[in-house]
Amino acid sequence: MFKRFRERRINKDIRLKYQEIFLSKDDFILPVFIVEGKERKEQILSMKDVYRMSVDIAIEYLLHSVEKGLQSILIFGVPDKKGVEQAFDDEGVVQNAVRKIKSDIKNLQIITDVCICSYTENGHCHIGDNDKTCELLAKIALSHVKAGADIVAPSDMMDGRVYYIRKILDQHGFNKIPILSYAAKFASNFYGPFREAAFSSPAYGDRKTYQMNYANSKEAMEEIEEDIREGAEMIMIKPSLGYLDIVYRAKEKFDLPVYAYNVSGEYASINYLIDQKLAKEEIIYEILLSIKRAGADKIVSYFTPYILEKLYEYQSF
Ligand code: PBG
Repeated sequence: MFKRFRERRINKDIRLKYQEIFLSKDDFILPVFIVEGKERKEQILSMKDVYRMSVDIAIEYLLHSVEKGLQSILIFGVPDKKGVEQAFDDEGVVQNAVRKIKSDIKNLQIITDVCICSYTENGHCHIGDNDKTCELLAKIALSHVKAGADIVAPSDMMDGRVYYIRKILDQHGFNKIPILSYAAKFASNFYGPFREAAFSSPAYGDRKTYQMNYANSKEAMEEIEEDIREGAEMIMIKPSLGYLDIVYRAKEKFDLPVYAYNVSGEYASINYLIDQKLAKEEIIYEILLSIKRAGADKIVSYFTPYILEKLYEYQSF
């Protein structure tokens, strides 16, 4: 005899009864690109329905999303002119945006990305020296928190940045502000559209001397362990789709929230398949569910607005 699994798949209702995992709106975090000034809404060509927005426009957009169930955003600042000192300026693009969003929108968690690649002339995430970069990142994180950020998320991959950030936050009485560390961030080819969005392409070379070698998973566990030791409260794996083994392993091994970043190149590729009619929109639900199934507690995704709009429609097939 043999077992008849197909009985579980006879129709939609039965499939639903056997479904192990569901997405929920509060699994999602929306990345937001903020520019200076007013009334600016610039379409990012490689990323459908994604914009660089000035904070006034972003607030309108976010208010609408909060009504639909948005709970959390990840802010990236895109300054008009390069220069790292703006990254920790209390009147910088991120700091102003955080203050304004906090005062205009209730119940929205604000995470800020802490990195300098949109601010450096050469588009790299460091200023040459590792530890000096950490000092700079710590200053940036502090200025974000002073402006009202709920969580800071360093994405640079310098050694020791969590240590430096934790120390400065504690010194200023912000010991309750968590650090979401991009602990295992790989030197991926999937970041291209983001770099167009944030004007952060490296002018020369690549990021392989600081972001992780994508052949390594044991080392990813070491990176995570070290960031936790330095004081990270949550950790991020990035990208997501090619790295679900890392997500799974991290979730098994560490008892803290695991975030996965469904990055820009993943977003653009999936949209390409849909636009070319090579895949149904359902593919969005499929890939996001796979990230959750692998063990992610939270998913950073440009598909968040789509999910807020359509989740119930797609909850089962
Ligand atoms: C910057 C940063 C990058 C992303 C998030 N933070 C780009 C990079 O490392 O080059 C990529 C996000 C995405 O592709 O959606 N340190």
